[in-house]
Amino acid sequence: MNLINFFKQFIAAPTKIGAIAPSSEGLADLITEVADLPKASTVIEFGPGTGVFTEKIVRKMPSEALFFALEYNEDFVKASKNRCCDALIYHDTAANAMKYLNQHGLDECDSIICGLPWASFSVELQDEILSASITALKPGGKFLTFAYLSGLILPGGMKFRKKLSLRFSKVTTTKTVWLNIPPAFVYCAEK
Ligand SMILES: C[S@@+](CC[C@H](N)C(=O)[O-])C[C@H]1O[C@@H](n2cnc3c(N)ncnc32)[C@H](O)[C@@H]1O
Repeated sequence: MNLINFFKQFIAAPTKIGAIAPSSEGLADLITEVADLPKASTVIEFGPGTGVFTEKIVRKMPSEALFFALEYNEDFVKASKNRCCDALIYHDTAANAMKYLNQHGLDECDSIICGLPWASFSVELQDEILSASITALKPGGKFLTFAYLSGLILPGGMKFRKKLSLRFSKVTTTKTVWLNIPPAFVYCAEK
């Protein structure tokens, strides 16, 4: 999917997409690096969009590990499947992560790499997806999600940071990727 089509998806559903362009390669490198993928056996991605993170997740994970992504938007399901034809992309909400883990005979995962637009979600949807994430992660499992630097000074961004700290046992942040549009960093939260 090209930039114009991504932008059209944003115009059609701004609160679901939450970004005017896909994340940069630099942000994709960073979020997949902190996920410690070479040691993972089960990884889930939320909101792959055009598959910029997906491509790197699949490359960095052991070949025998289980990976699947949950994407809400049908056009992005097609786009991420086009980009990563070997990846398992389900057309569903991230809130249903447990259902797919169970379908694979599992009840926990090592990490969740998340590309969801938290700042444009309602508080109820944030809580629903965070609860599903915590249920799906093993103890010590990692929840990686990015945020725009600009959001840190906005009430929504500050509340989300606090929510992560209340829900997870440890939350750290990475360096900022300045060449991302807009500049972004990664929250590394541990169950
Ligand atoms: C900001 S885009 C990020 C796409 C990609 N991860 C990236 O960084 O370029 C957010 C993505 O989350 C998807 N999304 C929004 N709500 C979702 C939900 N409840 N469950 C799964 N995916 C969702 C959108 O359709 C979109 O593909």
